[in-house]
Amino acid sequence: MKKQPLSEFSNARVLVAPSMLASDFSALGMELQRIEDASADIVHLDVMDAHFVPNLTIGPALIASLRKHSRLPFDVHLMMTNPLKYIKAFADAGADNITFHIECDDPVTKVISAIRAAGCSVGITMKPGTPASSIQKVVSKVNMVLIMTVEPGFGGQSFMQQTVSKITEVRRMLNASNPKAHVEVDGGIDESNANEVVAAGANVLVAGTSVFKHQNGIAAAIEQLHATQKQLNTGITG
Ligand code: DX5
Ligand code: ZN
Repeated sequence: MKKQPLSEFSNARVLVAPSMLASDFSALGMELQRIEDASADIVHLDVMDAHFVPNLTIGPALIASLRKHSRLPFDVHLMMTNPLKYIKAFADAGADNITFHIECDDPVTKVISAIRAAGCSVGITMKPGTPASSIQKVVSKVNMVLIMTVEPGFGGQSFMQQTVSKITEVRRMLNASNPKAHVEVDGGIDESNANEVVAAGANVLVAGTSVFKHQNGIAAAIEQLHATQKQLNTGITG
């Protein structure tokens, strides 16, 4: 399947990216079909290495088998201490975007080059406690900045309100040198905070628990997240 890097998508639209971490792992193919039928835009896949974070999830083999069950772009979030060695494997497995952490142990510019060489768009992310200034040197080289709105490692945590100002700060940084880039948020996103994060400058909403466990079903959950479109504010400057 031809790659769909996120650089090919406009940041003038709110894109909803359900996190498969909250889905039923015994029926992943069906869960992918359900979110596609419910108008999801992107599939968010969380890779944890039991070292960078204290949890262990999925690897390239699983992603390769999921690839056959979805036409949506795969947004692979690497919570790994040493992502560099695995970039090609995740790209070959079907990743369209690969996001890695600025706190990883590998040289950041080498990881970015490896992701590009593999034909994927590049995302950079940081933990809630890491300042936005930590990514200043690379903001012009990425296609997306992911602002973690919980401590990475587990789904189902509560949104950290103190991360909202970082969303605006990053959107401003990008608008100065890289206005087409996306700002993604991940962790505890639901209908109670989605308007606020979109108004702050985010346009890609990752949501696990609030989509898969929504009392009115997946389609209603995704529709509510898409309804934040009217708040979208990617033009923040100054
Ligand atoms: C946390 C992961 C998230 C997580 C989000 O480390 O990066 O993608 O699955 O799940 P919710 O939406 O349940 O917080
Ligand atoms: Zn994630």
